[in-house]
Amino acid sequence: NETTHFTSIVIGTGYGGAVSALRLGEAGVDTLMLEMGQLWDKPGPDGKVFCKMTKPDGRAMWFKNRTEAPLSSFLWIDAINRPIDYYAGVLDRINYPNMSVYVGRGVGGGSLVNGGMAVTPPMNYFQEILPEVNTHEMYNKYFPRANQKLQVNTIPNTLLENSPYYRFTRVGRQQAEKAGFKTVTVPNIYDYNYMQQEEAGKVHKSAFGKEVIYGNNGGKRSLDKTYLADALGTGKVTLKYLHRVDAITQNSQGLYQIDVSEINTSGATVAKKTFTCKHLFMCAGSVGSTEMLVRARETGKLPSLPSEVGTHWGNNGNVMTARANHMWHPTGTKQSTIPAMGINDWDNASNPVFAEIAPLPTGFETWISLYLAITKNPERGHFEYDATKQQAVLRWGAHQSQPSINSAKAMFDKINKANTTIYRYDLFGNNKAFADDFTYHPLGGCVLGKATDLYGRIKGYSNLYVNDGALVPGNTGVNPFITITAMAERNIEKIIQEDMLK
Ligand code: FDA
Repeated sequence: NETTHFTSIVIGTGYGGAVSALRLGEAGVDTLMLEMGQLWDKPGPDGKVFCKMTKPDGRAMWFKNRTEAPLSSFLWIDAINRPIDYYAGVLDRINYPNMSVYVGRGVGGGSLVNGGMAVTPPMNYFQEILPEVNTHEMYNKYFPRANQKLQVNTIPNTLLENSPYYRFTRVGRQQAEKAGFKTVTVPNIYDYNYMQQEEAGKVHKSAFGKEVIYGNNGGKRSLDKTYLADALGTGKVTLKYLHRVDAITQNSQGLYQIDVSEINTSGATVAKKTFTCKHLFMCAGSVGSTEMLVRARETGKLPSLPSEVGTHWGNNGNVMTARANHMWHPTGTKQSTIPAMGINDWDNASNPVFAEIAPLPTGFETWISLYLAITKNPERGHFEYDATKQQAVLRWGAHQSQPSINSAKAMFDKINKANTTIYRYDLFGNNKAFADDFTYHPLGGCVLGKATDLYGRIKGYSNLYVNDGALVPGNTGVNPFITITAMAERNIEKIIQEDMLK
């Protein structure tokens, strides 16, 4: 049983964790990063680090016997999900009653599995959700910093307008515009120079080879290639992966004590370890950080945590839907996995929606237009400790997804009407046109200014911080990682200045 002390420990290696570790390392603070997933740098038997969506194996999912993709069927047939080996794979689906949450597992967190859409929220909406945060500073300093460090780039016109891999996007744009909606090009962290080489047949096809939610083998500038590489480059940051944090508490000297299981890729514990630190950064994602903190409070390990920890959780109003196009509007046998456009109706006062025109890369023609809609759903969930499971569980009622459906329906009814098309009912189970029971964008649980002060310092304790998606109050109006990264930059700068350098 190894015990080691660090000045600071960062739990989790997603956006918030990567930003925190880099800035702590640059400030000369010895820092340990703990990540329960793998370091994805070793090729499997097929010579690739990650598997394709269309040919999943154990690498696809975090300890499941079968894949759990968001589309559960095709033509009502259970043809999408496959049995896989129980293994420390890269995508997790945490199934709570009425709401499942997808998250990335591995060094880089969500950046390993996400679509890379790098969207800065509209300024007026950011101001609405976080009125105490200085908007001017965010839009002039921290959003640009996040965009620059994440190496955000924009799709070249030649790809968007001419590539067969973006036909689905052009069809989606044309049909939205026919119904009077505005569309916007969406920046991404995927390297479009690499994508152009994929198109030219010069490199491994990743975005053009059906790779994304189970990881990309090329082109994706995930955090391990940006922030985390730089963090390790400071020489002050130690990374331990396949290290799962089981419990956090405070010892008699006021240091935080972190109990960890080192696991192998089959999930067996190979060592138990204890680490201590003065400054503890919770960056395990909205659900990961919130769950651990609620459990710490309810089991008496950190009894002074405020009651706001575990509240104000939202799904960013996520709802997925699909339309059936006419035979003369094929969406393409070839589809890039990297989305490039959105339908932007966020200014609509009654039904604000920002909908990603999403790919459905099956390799055959489906005539389907797929969308991930982000809506302004005011409903919020909370976490409750379940003593039998020894876990904090998300409470989200089925009815709480209805506002998202209503908004998305308002948009897509119009698009269907203008194009004389209909919804697809065969993709999400139970003849549903709207998949309202999962989210890619968990947000909140330890919200800025409620569970924490205005920089992520948790109320009731010193030197205990949240610096990830758990701080964002349930909704950002756009895909969230740029907001999470920019907020993390802002908070860590203040914390280093005021709590660590003084
Ligand atoms: P994040 O979840 O990234 O990282 C938390 C890390 O902590 C994980 O690596 C986890 O394994 C680790 N951890 C958790 N518990 C732990 C424990 N007990 N011990 C040790 N480690 C632990 N967003 C966007 O802006 N554009 C997009 O295109 C998309 N697309 C998208 C697609 C899919 C399929 C998903 C699942 C998600 C997206 N997202 C997205 C969402 C985006 O990826 C997400 O908002 C961020 O990754 C959240 O960043 P955080 O830093 O909050 O946590």
